[in-house]
Amino acid sequence: MLASGAGSLLASLIERSRRPGSVFEIVAVGVDRDCAAVSIAQDAGIASFTCRVADHPDRAAWDDALRDLTDQAAPDWVVTAGFMKILGPRFLGRFGGHIVNSHPALLPSFPGAHGVADALAHGVKVTGTTVHLVDDGVDTGPILAQRAVQIADDDTADTLHERIKIIERELLADMVTALVAKGVVIEGRKARIP
Ligand code: GRF
Repeated sequence: MLASGAGSLLASLIERSRRPGSVFEIVAVGVDRDCAAVSIAQDAGIASFTCRVADHPDRAAWDDALRDLTDQAAPDWVVTAGFMKILGPRFLGRFGGHIVNSHPALLPSFPGAHGVADALAHGVKVTGTTVHLVDDGVDTGPILAQRAVQIADDDTADTLHERIKIIERELLADMVTALVAKGVVIEGRKARIP
């Protein structure tokens, strides 16, 4: 898993991976900055690494380093959960088709780093969460699953995001379970789990 923030999605996947009958385990956690996700991984006894853009001469070198550090863990799937960097062509070349992301909006609406605030600012009454495969765009890969979340009149971006995360945790864990157990079929822009 790749993360950059509070790591609540990471924590929920660790919990799901350790339930009886789980079909997946988290073999490593990669971050691009100092963040709570690192201590969550360490407390769970999961290997972690930090790969900062600023520690590399350019973005391509960072892309190479992130690919190689991730490759050392030999994952079957890469899950980006709050990872705030666009994955580069080298990383995608190695793991493309096996990278799944969770986004706190109903794509294609409100892509990018501020999807929750953008939905609130736009005045929509329903937003939600999207689990999708990662391609070379920003939140543009084939969609695997979505769930709707009603926006309350008194919602702030924070209260809304926390409510989305509750739904998001379950959906992402369900989708990771299904992907590991059954794989995915991609037909044009559409993805489905057989
Ligand atoms: C999640 O809502 C995810 O969809 C978005 O960033 C948030 C990460 O939350 N990309 P956390 O860092 O796992 O708490």
